[in-house]
Amino acid sequence: MYEKIVSDNKQWIDDVWEKIDKKMKVVSELSKDKIPYTTVNGVHNNMVKDDITWWTNGFWSGLMWLLYVGTKDEQYRSVAEAAEKFLDGALEDYDRLHHDVGFMWHISAGVNYRLFGGKKSRLRATYAADILASRYNPDGKFIRSWNGDNKGWVIIDSMMNIPLLYWASEEYDDNRFKAVALSHAKTVMENHIRPDATSHHIVRLDEETGEFIEAFGGQGYELGSSWTRGQAWAIYGFILSYIHTGKQEFLDTAKRVANSFIANAAVNDWVIPIDFRQPEEPKLIDTTAATIAACGLIEIAKNVGEHEQKLYLTPAIKMMKLLDEKYCNYTLEEQSIVQMGSEAYRLEAPEKIHMPIIYGDYFFTEAIYKLKGFDMLFW
Ligand code: GLY
Repeated sequence: MYEKIVSDNKQWIDDVWEKIDKKMKVVSELSKDKIPYTTVNGVHNNMVKDDITWWTNGFWSGLMWLLYVGTKDEQYRSVAEAAEKFLDGALEDYDRLHHDVGFMWHISAGVNYRLFGGKKSRLRATYAADILASRYNPDGKFIRSWNGDNKGWVIIDSMMNIPLLYWASEEYDDNRFKAVALSHAKTVMENHIRPDATSHHIVRLDEETGEFIEAFGGQGYELGSSWTRGQAWAIYGFILSYIHTGKQEFLDTAKRVANSFIANAAVNDWVIPIDFRQPEEPKLIDTTAATIAACGLIEIAKNVGEHEQKLYLTPAIKMMKLLDEKYCNYTLEEQSIVQMGSEAYRLEAPEKIHMPIIYGDYFFTEAIYKLKGFDMLFW
């Protein structure tokens, strides 16, 4: 069934891949000395100057690697490697690093190492894994998310960082990293995922006992609402933990959250709001949530039986087609591809709503890469 659905959509998949490649071939050259986060008047900004420790700084390199694997064009490799080197500035700024080191180094240095085996890339990914593992609290059984006063805070996004630890365990034939990842994933499953299969964004746990203290609405509309990018991180994060560990409970969790996401997406005509429980007006959307969810749904479809594959793959393709038709810009007037991403539900900060964000481009391209049949899993 998976193959049939992909083959029925082959022409569209090939066309989108071609449009991405054509645009990024030019843009990658123009932005080769940058690590972009967004665009200003259509031009990529540069996080190398603005903040090299920013959590999204691995996506540019990751995007270049997706295109390299798909095309074998050396230009993409060279831009990916330049961005990986820029990131060394962040590795040297330990105090400002956080749990998002998985986002930063797993798909940059980590992919480079898995492709070419370079020592320096292996070291970078290893330092990142060490930093992430060192944030584990064995009493509370969680990896601490942020720094400063936010003690005991764990955010759902963390599920996308722990695949770096599964990699480190395999690479060093050492179970410690995987043990940390597994323990953290179970804590998140028990504390973030609610009975109705939606997810809290932020949970505060007791540092000594791991007991649930309170939840926060975080980047969503309010406490108890359903921030769509958080739901998407849960879908993709739990299916990745299943792929790396084979533990059924992670597949079941990914499917439960996916089922609720799909039901909500369907009643919104596949246009994903910032929060599934936000007010009807204003109509705020977040295209990045759709791209991340699509990647997770595609992986779920690959990991369930024949009769369930359509249930996950068809919604992923529906969301991707809508993005392609209505929210993508393939011209060179604008250097990003996917428009209308939103950092958070923040009416008081309109500049953070409906903007291009680098991970929108990354996950949009990753979903098409998966549908094209490239099977190297980046996470
Ligand atoms: N904090 C990660 C995100 O904005 O999804």
